[in-house]
Amino acid sequence: MLVLGIESSCDETAVSIVEKKNSLCKGKIIKEIVWSQIKSHQPFGGVVPELSSREHVRLLDKITKKTLRESKINLKEIDGIAATIGPGLLGGLLIGSNYAKAVCIASKKPFLAVNHLQAHILISRMENTIPFPFLVLLISGGHTQLVIAKNYNKFEILGESVDDALGEAFDKTAKLFGLKYPGGPEIEKFAKKFSKKNSYLLPKPMYKRNNLNFSFSGLKTAVRKIVEKGISKKDKFNLAYDFQSCILKCLEDRCAKAMDSFIEKYHCGSFILSGGVASNMFLRNGIKKLTERKGMKFFVPKISLCVDNASMIAWTGIEKLENDEKGDPISSIPQPRWPLNKI
Ligand code: KG4
Ligand code: ZN
Repeated sequence: MLVLGIESSCDETAVSIVEKKNSLCKGKIIKEIVWSQIKSHQPFGGVVPELSSREHVRLLDKITKKTLRESKINLKEIDGIAATIGPGLLGGLLIGSNYAKAVCIASKKPFLAVNHLQAHILISRMENTIPFPFLVLLISGGHTQLVIAKNYNKFEILGESVDDALGEAFDKTAKLFGLKYPGGPEIEKFAKKFSKKNSYLLPKPMYKRNNLNFSFSGLKTAVRKIVEKGISKKDKFNLAYDFQSCILKCLEDRCAKAMDSFIEKYHCGSFILSGGVASNMFLRNGIKKLTERKGMKFFVPKISLCVDNASMIAWTGIEKLENDEKGDPISSIPQPRWPLNKI
């Protein structure tokens, strides 16, 4: 099975062809191209929706043709075309999905409408055998959720951020530090240069709460108050370290609680870390250790598959076709808000 995937929900224009030879083998990326628009958005300190739409218009057809040409795969050999139809920025979703639909109509291929969050979660199954149900912590620029994946298309949200998504908290904190967008990788680099741990007393929102929700805006505000008083570069390194370790403590607390109830219900299982923020090595290592202490198997995609990419969209298309889906209606409309439990 060969599926072509298109991702255009935010500031990456990405196309990928993924193959799965039979039901027993894993998925393989034949060719993927991710064009990051970061440089165009950086002067504005964040993603500018209109600018991202223009970039998708400019690049999508070129990148798709290049992916097909360099993979030496003819469109005739493709079994389906998958595109993100939500959640995300409406302009990008319209451009990517309409392009995919047009190619599907012209080539008589099934159109596969993919939920971006579902794709972030399922991509771990491309390279590993992970049976359902499994527990997931999805941490991205727009979402922070603890989820049970019951099937490829059935998800239960256990808890989520009541304010900022974790990636957003990283990005806003980086801005306070005067660092460029996207801020997550910049904060991680800063934190590596720390000289003293626990220099700052930062709040741990939602810590030990009875539910499974998260909150990060208070933490960001606490950092802002410290920065506004004026701190040296060396202090910023220490503050970045304390910020990350405070986040890890909050994530560990919420995940441990979710793991306990998951194990009680299902007896064992796997824990998956996913989304752009899962690229952070400090957080990856911390959550891995926690998962192993709880006796669960830990999976996290390689960094290029944590951040936005089209291979996860193509792979989700493969999972849909494998489950006898015949394709989605050409009339499927993009959904800027499309929660995992409404797939
Ligand atoms: O999943 P993603 O690529 O896009 C969304 O679906 O939102 O996530 C992007 C987010 C950004 O907020 C970015 O700052 C964050 O992931 N991020 C990181 C790291 N790399 C990317 N956050 C912390 N540490 C990193 N190394
Ligand atoms: Zn994403």
